[in-house]
Amino acid sequence: MIIVQTIEALQEAKKALSGSIGFVPTMGALHKGHLSLIQQAKNENDHLIVSIFVNPTQFLEGEDLDAYPRKEEADIKICKLAGVDILFMPTIDAMYEKDELSIGAPAIRGYILEGEKRPGHFDGMLQVVMKLLNLSGATNAYFGKKDAQQLALITQMVKNYFMDVNIIPCDIVRDENGLALSSRNVYLQGDEKTRALSLARSLKRATKMVMAGELNVEVIKKEMLIVLEETDQVEYVAIVDRAFNELDTVEIGNTIILVAAWVGKPRLIDNLWI
Ligand code: PAJ
Repeated sequence: MIIVQTIEALQEAKKALSGSIGFVPTMGALHKGHLSLIQQAKNENDHLIVSIFVNPTQFLEGEDLDAYPRKEEADIKICKLAGVDILFMPTIDAMYEKDELSIGAPAIRGYILEGEKRPGHFDGMLQVVMKLLNLSGATNAYFGKKDAQQLALITQMVKNYFMDVNIIPCDIVRDENGLALSSRNVYLQGDEKTRALSLARSLKRATKMVMAGELNVEVIKKEMLIVLEETDQVEYVAIVDRAFNELDTVEIGNTIILVAAWVGKPRLIDNLWI
């Protein structure tokens, strides 16, 4: 595995590659969720590039940019063991100039749900993903359904800007109790770990209702909110189609149910594709 920190070193390392390139962008503190993307990319491509970059432009003022978990040494080991060819770990200066043109998330879909709670987050996310996709020259780039709105917006960016890369959605990886893995789970203390499970449980409850024939969005949301009373604060429960339009009735095969809630220090998100 080659570790590169500059754009020039990345371009140089890429010269040795021929064939398809799988690419997995991350912010590090790698867990089994990231690893599943890395393994899928490894299986489906001739070469594998992973990036680790805690992107400052997608954090809002007052968010956890400085405290964001960093585990460089462990991450490098994980990537080596997973058979990564190039690990790209750029500095902020390598990635950004002082005064740059920016990318704006679409007006409606970029500013509802996560975008409403974190205004501007998706602009910064799309900006760095555009840069990383261009730099990697990826044939296939892998993103988790865990960040469903992020995935939808990246898919739209690639389409709107005619970018020559396939965006591959990957399933959510959970721990043995059903908690969706996240780098921010390390913040959970004591009983918060149990209370955090209510996000996944609310989604399970919704699935059961749908399986029993209940398709009314308001009725399902109400039930989910009861399960979510164990969290400290619910930010949203939403039921949308795959393009993130709000639904009144669940459409089997075209629906995503999303939840965001605070449990202790971290703000957790989870979702389910129906
Ligand atoms: P990060 O949170 O590190 O996540 C990197 C990738 O791993 C994302 O595609 C995310 O959806 C996926 N992922 C995280 N937890 C997962 C889980 N439990 N199961 C499956 N996939 C999971 O998302 C980002 O970084 C950044 O916004 C990034 C795209 C790198 C741009 O900075």
